[in-house]
Amino acid sequence: MKKEGLIMNDFRFYNPVRIHFGQSSLNKLPKELAAVGKTILLAYGGGSIKRTGLYNRVMAILEDCGKEVVELSGIMPNPRTEKVYEGIELCKKHNVDFILAVGGGSTIDCSKAIAVGACTDRDFWEAFYLNNEAAEAAIPLGVVLTIPATGSEMDRSAVITHWETGVKTDYNSDLTFPKFSILDPTLTYTLPKNQMINGIVDTLSHIWELYFSEPDTDSVTDNLAEALMRSVIAATRVAIKEPEDYIARSNIMWASTVALCGMIGNGKNSDWASHNIEHAISALFDVAHGAGLAVVHPTYMAYFCQNAPERYARYAVNVWGVDPTGKTALEVAREGVQCTRDFFNEIGAPATLTDLGVPESAIDDLVAHTDMGAWAYKKMTQDDVRAILRMAL
Ligand code: NZQ
Ligand code: ZN
Repeated sequence: MKKEGLIMNDFRFYNPVRIHFGQSSLNKLPKELAAVGKTILLAYGGGSIKRTGLYNRVMAILEDCGKEVVELSGIMPNPRTEKVYEGIELCKKHNVDFILAVGGGSTIDCSKAIAVGACTDRDFWEAFYLNNEAAEAAIPLGVVLTIPATGSEMDRSAVITHWETGVKTDYNSDLTFPKFSILDPTLTYTLPKNQMINGIVDTLSHIWELYFSEPDTDSVTDNLAEALMRSVIAATRVAIKEPEDYIARSNIMWASTVALCGMIGNGKNSDWASHNIEHAISALFDVAHGAGLAVVHPTYMAYFCQNAPERYARYAVNVWGVDPTGKTALEVAREGVQCTRDFFNEIGAPATLTDLGVPESAIDDLVAHTDMGAWAYKKMTQDDVRAILRMAL
């Protein structure tokens, strides 16, 4: 018999993204491109792909495939509405058949928003982001991933910032799943250390948002989550010392994709409170998403673990190897949170709002900009958010 809150929630799992993983996976691009129309929007960020040589490799493939290329460059981290409008205009003007996003979550999310925005005469921000209307069509898109972090390469979410109003939020549609994603771990060797760390923090944070929620009796999903966390932690320690360790980079890359492809959320309620607090920070201060999470998520854990001590204790034991003998669940839980903080210190992640350049005077504004719709175990209030931000100063 079903006992609410104890057994797996009913769920729908759908993920149509074709993944090409490995150090020669870019070789799969010509075959993927053969199946799509002639005019391609090549979307990328602020120039890293030019510095690393990836731009030339991709352009050569596009040329060999006889494609006409329209370029959208300069997609900024925390992509803004104006970049989406620019892409929509290019797609409409050139009758773009397919969008190829080469980069990280920012480039992919901007491309997804363009994909739906270019297929309507409505204002994309108002229709999809403010009114959450269902998109009826989208330009198909594909991905060459350069930074493991957001999972956008295998999910249907597109996070965009409206800078003027300080709103950073997501839009989700089955139409915005990429058709394919190319995951070559060697493309991540060029990541600056801080970007690598940001991506790793984001990956762990996605797993935590799902793992720390009911139902939390033993489940396949929770066991998968713990294995993923252990893999990420072990691989991070290797990749920091040896950035070109292929095994470590592969594990980091695949873990970040799996973390948000739906598998780790199946049957769970999910939380997303830390993400919502962080989105307010990056919407108002334009900090990197992973850096914001490095400050917010461990603080949130420290503040909230008393509401689910058994679950946090399980995390402490199964992920960090904390010895529970003779301790209460809450004591074990707190040790697990401390292990999390110690790990972030060890890898050089930011620890405080001050590290991010966010002053105490901004706290009320941040509270006002935090979406209060997501929480786990205990309904989050604005006072909770204020207390967490104060603890993070
Ligand atoms: O812009 P370029 O010059 O390409 O440089 C980028 C950028 O500065 C650089 N970079 C990427 N790959 C590189 C590289 N530098 C050297 N070598 C490489 N191989 O890294 C910087 C960060 O890139 P970005 O795409 O901004 O990072 P990330 O993948 O973390 O994306 C962050 C955005 O995704 C959103 C975040 O809020 C943020 O806006 N998220 C998207 C989600 C989703 N779609 O499911 C979920 C997440 O929770 C998140 O909210
Ligand atoms: Zn995230």
